[in-house]
Amino acid sequence: MKNVLVTGGAGYIGSHTVLSLIDYGYNPIIVDNFSNSSPKVIERLEKISGKKIKLYNLDCCNKKDLDQVFKENDIFGVIHFAGYKAVGESVKVPLKYYENNIISLLNVVETMANNNSNNLIFSSSATVYGDPKSVPIYEDFPLHVTNPYGRTKLMIEEILQDYVKANPSFKVALLRYFNPIGAHESGLIGEDPNGIPNNLMPYITQVCIGKLDHLNVFGNDYDTPDGTGIRDYIHVLDLARGHSLTLKKMEETKDNLLIYNLGTSKGSSVLDVVHEMEKVVGHKIPYQIAPRRAGDIAECYANCDKAYQELGFKTEYDLYDMCKSSWNFQQKNPNGIR
Ligand code: UD1
Repeated sequence: MKNVLVTGGAGYIGSHTVLSLIDYGYNPIIVDNFSNSSPKVIERLEKISGKKIKLYNLDCCNKKDLDQVFKENDIFGVIHFAGYKAVGESVKVPLKYYENNIISLLNVVETMANNNSNNLIFSSSATVYGDPKSVPIYEDFPLHVTNPYGRTKLMIEEILQDYVKANPSFKVALLRYFNPIGAHESGLIGEDPNGIPNNLMPYITQVCIGKLDHLNVFGNDYDTPDGTGIRDYIHVLDLARGHSLTLKKMEETKDNLLIYNLGTSKGSSVLDVVHEMEKVVGHKIPYQIAPRRAGDIAECYANCDKAYQELGFKTEYDLYDMCKSSWNFQQKNPNGIR
């Protein structure tokens, strides 16, 4: 069994990916410092998978600690999720973002190189496309970012492209995620934000459970059919599977730079999501139209043909499944994973 190091493996996308790796016959090893996740996630992953999962509680900014993990294990590949991800916070404290996200990436690559580990998947984001010239978005669209969080994603993509040019035996996959929502069907793991959520789905589920009073819909005057913003929501289980398929591809291809959009190729508006969730919970969800949120764009959805053709990546879950599983997770964890 090939060992795959999953940095940020206790986080939202990381934890679901750990389960998918097990399904695909890999042995995931988690590195996490629990700065934005709970150690309980590990127990829950073991419960779901029925497997003991090796964990290193460490910060990827500490190169010595990271190197020790490689010394103790033969690591076939690394999936690097660990990083700060709050857009608003990144605007207020940019250095925190540059320091953490860039240094940890540099450490991961250097440590991999020193230990002859040659396959790296990086968690990138549709944020690298900025406000796209048109939709759907293809991988070769121009890249443009508008905030420090997004800039760390783009800078890392560029660093990795320089690195593979200089080191052709090292393989990198850049996965650009659209909007992951949903949760594992057990309701044991899911998106568990600290404080008031910034993102749409956890905000909606907290309204539904009565922790928040109503949803603020940020703008209904966009140039979209119902005036609200359109995004490509993808079930986190589909997104997780995309990582396993990418690793399989890396095992067989000679290409050393792979870039894929991971979405559903379908756009849904804020009100589409609200109405789908109303079907799940069986009642109206209170919302108010609020001003546009700074930095938001009207439409962002992917063309995912490349991932389909090269990886066989096809999504299995629809918006109803995403809403249903998000709600199941919220109900089972009214105060998050504690
Ligand atoms: C956001 C980030 C993106 C990041 C992603 C990670 C911004 C501008 N973008 O994407 O860089 O990669 O999260 O998860 O922050 N909405 C409401 N009310 C709310 C919350 C959201 O109406 O309370 C709307 C937004 O205006 C948007 C849609 O819901 O149209 C989705 O928002 P969100 O879940 O925050 O994701 P993005 O902004 O697409």
